[in-house]
Amino acid sequence: MSKQQQLDEIRQKILDDNVTPELVETATQLVFGSGNPDAEIVFVGEAPGKKEDLTGEPFVGAAGKFLDEMLQSVNLQRKDIYITNIVKYRPPNNRDPLPEEKKAFLPYLQAQLEVIQPKVVVTLGRHSANSFLPDLQISREHGHPKQVQLAFRDDPSQVLEVIILPLFHPAAALYNGGLRQTLLDDFLTIPDIIKKITH
Ligand code: URA
Repeated sequence: MSKQQQLDEIRQKILDDNVTPELVETATQLVFGSGNPDAEIVFVGEAPGKKEDLTGEPFVGAAGKFLDEMLQSVNLQRKDIYITNIVKYRPPNNRDPLPEEKKAFLPYLQAQLEVIQPKVVVTLGRHSANSFLPDLQISREHGHPKQVQLAFRDDPSQVLEVIILPLFHPAAALYNGGLRQTLLDDFLTIPDIIKKITH
């Protein structure tokens, strides 16, 4: 089965399992993730916003535009990467995802990563960073890559070695000049990380 077919199965499983029924009620549709299933870099955001909920695609609103600008600054395009979120339905009024919502979706995120097998996971915002590194303080450790071993869910002897690069969330940085520049600067570390993993 191709990676895309395996991802399609995970998508279907989220629907079949009726994950976070309360969010299913208020959201328009599932925003599963998109991009290249063979990508070496996966970006993980927080949860879909209004535009993502309407289109079914991650990061297509204002934060997504800013993300596209930053990708361009390091010569990456959407077709080179894969993008998804921790929580895959829009929370009402874009409230923060609840701990139980993040927990409910974690196995599916992990399944996506097990299929894609990226070398780098760029987390956008603290909800995403803390799903991989619960003790990480984003204000202190943004832009500092960490080597992490993710155990496979059905075979813990098998691990996925990934570099986690924790970044601020582009939505938080949109209207905060200082944070915006910090995020732009942190993004520029991505080419070095790519160079390291390909040599
Ligand atoms: N913010 C997120 O975290 N994810 C999206 O898909 C859009 C905005």
